[in-house]
Amino acid sequence: MKALTQEKLNEIRNSVNIVDVISSYISLTPRGKNYFGVCPFHDDNNPSMSVSSDKQIYKCFSCGATGTVFKFIMDYENITFNESVQKVASLGGIKIDLGYVPKTKDYSEQYDIYDLSLKFYINNINTSKGKEAKEYLKERGITEETIKEFQIGLALRSKNTLANILIKKHKPEEVLKSGLIGKNEYGYFDLFYDRIMFPLYNLNGKVIAYSGRIYNRKDNSKYFNTRETEIFKKGELLYNYHRAKDIARQKNQIIVMEGFMDVIRAHSVGIKNAIATMGTAVTKEQASLIKRMAKEIILCFDGDEAGAKATKACAEELNKIGIIPKVIRLENNMDPDEYIKEYGKEAFERKLNNPISIMDFELSYLKNGKDLNNAVDKAKYINQIIEEINKINDDILKEVTIKKIADETKIDEEIIRKHLVEKPKVVKKEKSLPKLTKYEKAEKALIYFMLKSQEVIKMYDKKVTYMPTKEYRLLAREISAFYHEYNNINEASFIDYIEGDTELTNTIRKVNQNINAEKYTLEEIEDYINVIKEYNVNTAIERMQDKMHEISDPLKKAEIAQKIIDLKKGV
Ligand code: UTP
Ligand code: MN
Repeated sequence: MKALTQEKLNEIRNSVNIVDVISSYISLTPRGKNYFGVCPFHDDNNPSMSVSSDKQIYKCFSCGATGTVFKFIMDYENITFNESVQKVASLGGIKIDLGYVPKTKDYSEQYDIYDLSLKFYINNINTSKGKEAKEYLKERGITEETIKEFQIGLALRSKNTLANILIKKHKPEEVLKSGLIGKNEYGYFDLFYDRIMFPLYNLNGKVIAYSGRIYNRKDNSKYFNTRETEIFKKGELLYNYHRAKDIARQKNQIIVMEGFMDVIRAHSVGIKNAIATMGTAVTKEQASLIKRMAKEIILCFDGDEAGAKATKACAEELNKIGIIPKVIRLENNMDPDEYIKEYGKEAFERKLNNPISIMDFELSYLKNGKDLNNAVDKAKYINQIIEEINKINDDILKEVTIKKIADETKIDEEIIRKHLVEKPKVVKKEKSLPKLTKYEKAEKALIYFMLKSQEVIKMYDKKVTYMPTKEYRLLAREISAFYHEYNNINEASFIDYIEGDTELTNTIRKVNQNINAEKYTLEEIEDYINVIKEYNVNTAIERMQDKMHEISDPLKKAEIAQKIIDLKKGV
């Protein structure tokens, strides 16, 4: 059931640009008039999905998924149509009230609390109380400009200044929920005390948490982070995602780092396609965010042993979703921040331009501390590598690695091969589409163009009395009915109009499968119509022939025979 009129839906849909919205979910590259990306609705690595800004729809040429911005968000986020409409409306700044709809949770007060805290912290660092913090940052080579851009602030050496500010403006329970303020028998108090405050952002760039760094005293924790709250889920975000995503998309390269200081440093020297995992193991959600940002993924973790472990873990998580990242290793246990500061942007860029393969990284990682002249070490090394090769999903990389270790250890390639597990070849599902009859092809093509042109609908109205296949018949009728009701056809409006009818929606998906054309000729449309007619005539003839066999009256027989001849003439 829909609570909004078609006109209102159109207004909401037109309040945003589908290209902007979809590109906040998946990486899109412009080609010609359209944008292309990897379809998130089936298992794919090719950019089969096109997004049209003119038509405000997306379409996957491989699996046939199609729809408007509403359907994309609905399917991507697994929410209802109404929730999706609500989302788009708020993106587009349109107020709607879908009454009975279970409202998506409203976190606006939490965001307001963070906005206010951010103003407070930024103000602090710019007062005399922030002098020491500024000096610390300056000492680290962080410029005034970078401080501004990354909205770096300061929590005061005070027990409750922020608490007082927030409690004056916001509901106490909301203030406590924010993770910025605590409460004890004496009242409310600030949780961050005398730290340099680095705001953490959600995927849309809203401040939702902080990481506060020690700068002038000893403390057990170098960084103190906001605990997880309803708006801050550490495992679901990446530091700097909102700033880096467009640049990563343009370069088709994303650099993954451990610390946000590393990212800030890289950004400040003009390397802006970096994000940080912030010191914890990469989650499945983060891996798929990374996958969507760019094709080339470069892991650049800290140069120490912990960084090597993190590289391995991250590569494994990425490998699970079909990504084989490249790796950069930094000498002398340096992290990217230190490396860039010490050797400069160009040295770091040279590393970027010559990343090592993940297998080369594994090899040197596993070789570490082993003596290949020692038989035990050597056997262990080979076995560990075989284990790694078995995990890799890339035939060429496998081959290269086998050759490499055979060379290195002087062990026969065949012996290594014997220990490899043959992976069953994954059969691509979408390749084995059932064969279409020429009638179905004609029906599909006719509908495809009916969705694009009222001229074709008019031809259908005039000439096609009956589509052979039931699902196409129903869809064609619905398109024609829509056209007569609204006096025009717009694919996006139509798709929203039939939303909720799974049968029609599935049929649209079928219609769009493996077809990609913008223009048609009248001749072509006539052809489709004739093929459909031919089918109808042939089935009518068959029916009559059956009837003719059943009856014995010669006169009636002759009558039917004549009808058959007439029908055949019409074909
Ligand atoms: P690092 O210890 O590598 O931080 O931790 P860093 O970037 O080098 O920081 P500086 O240069 O000493 O200032 C990497 C990430 O782990 C998280 C932070 O998010 C940091 O960016 N971390 C680290 C914490 O949350 N708490 C800590 O005490 C330390
Ligand atoms: Mn560091």
